[in-house]
Amino acid sequence: MTKLASKPASVTDSRPMTEEADFLQIKSIDHVHFYVGNANHAMFYWWKAYGFKPVAYSGLETGNRDFASYVLESGQARFVLSAAYGPTSEIAAHQMVHGDGVKVIALEVDDVEKAWKETTSRGGKSAWSPREQKDDFGIFRTSAIYTYGETLHVFVDRDDYKGVFAPTYRPIKDKEAQSVGLAAIDHIVGNVQLGKMNEWVNYYHKVMGFRQLMHFDDKDISTEYSALMSKVMQNGNGRVKFPINEPAEGKKKSQIEEYLDYYLTPGAQHVALITGDIIKTVTQLKENGVEFLRVPETYYEVLPDRVGKIDEDMKAIHDLGILVDRDDEGYLLQIFTKSIQDRPTMFIEVIERHGSQSFGKGNFKALFEALELEQEKRGNL
Ligand SMILES: [Fe+2]
Repeated sequence: MTKLASKPASVTDSRPMTEEADFLQIKSIDHVHFYVGNANHAMFYWWKAYGFKPVAYSGLETGNRDFASYVLESGQARFVLSAAYGPTSEIAAHQMVHGDGVKVIALEVDDVEKAWKETTSRGGKSAWSPREQKDDFGIFRTSAIYTYGETLHVFVDRDDYKGVFAPTYRPIKDKEAQSVGLAAIDHIVGNVQLGKMNEWVNYYHKVMGFRQLMHFDDKDISTEYSALMSKVMQNGNGRVKFPINEPAEGKKKSQIEEYLDYYLTPGAQHVALITGDIIKTVTQLKENGVEFLRVPETYYEVLPDRVGKIDEDMKAIHDLGILVDRDDEGYLLQIFTKSIQDRPTMFIEVIERHGSQSFGKGNFKALFEALELEQEKRGNL
């Protein structure tokens, strides 16, 4: 066990990371790539429900004979949705086993060769060595390693590429979007198997130079029935945060186990999208038909005493079902959607931060009780 992993629960580690230890120098999350059954439908969903703007397309019309793919953006958040044209595609195989889900969490770097060498020499498993794709718009460079389950981290260098997104993609110009104010990806959570959390924490530390920001044990995150443990890993510049969850022993089935039962491998559990105005964002999302988890009324009876004064209107917070948590640095507002595909696997979080860099520890219990109600309806508790 590393020194970091043995720190007491829920302690924020704010020591600066030396440049040497931050050997990856990740600039940002470049995109999240979903493998889905029907990219056309998925594009419509993210466009009309979440207000993402479709910006690029790749498919038969652009010379891509293998898969259809759409790129959508909201602020700095970029999602790519791809579906296979035939049963022999690796996208089809992935989708058949796992359902719709995140295949790639792509990270923008200056040097994909260095990123690949640094990570694979530290024990990262290569998915592909540095490669260049060229077209009329320049050179698009990538390399890739595996993380939990079948999920990949693709390193992307687009400095010498002036086209839209990547080779074979062409701009979409006729689709305007009504933004709901989703500005960027705040964090992406991975679910791993019982007993595997520390392995993946060490992986992010050793292979990718991340540090542990905080951790939550089963005393923080347990209900009468089920529990989970979580540690949050963060890269050198603090822009990339990856919490890792594992199930903990409880009276009944943990939500993490339910995920693993349906995704059939570790994978991305939720993507958190940040907004500057959660009341406006959630109001619009609800109007668009997005469904959120709802915590019991008792949550709001004690909320003012628990979090003190906040800038937002408490009635709006209550009516929309938004959750609030406070720590030493400030407060945050957050809300979670129901599963966004048929299988009870992935969901979306919307978050607004007012100083707090945490993840809503004070909401865990109420939230997981709400989640268990849904789990029970599915016969999976
Ligand atoms: Fe989250």
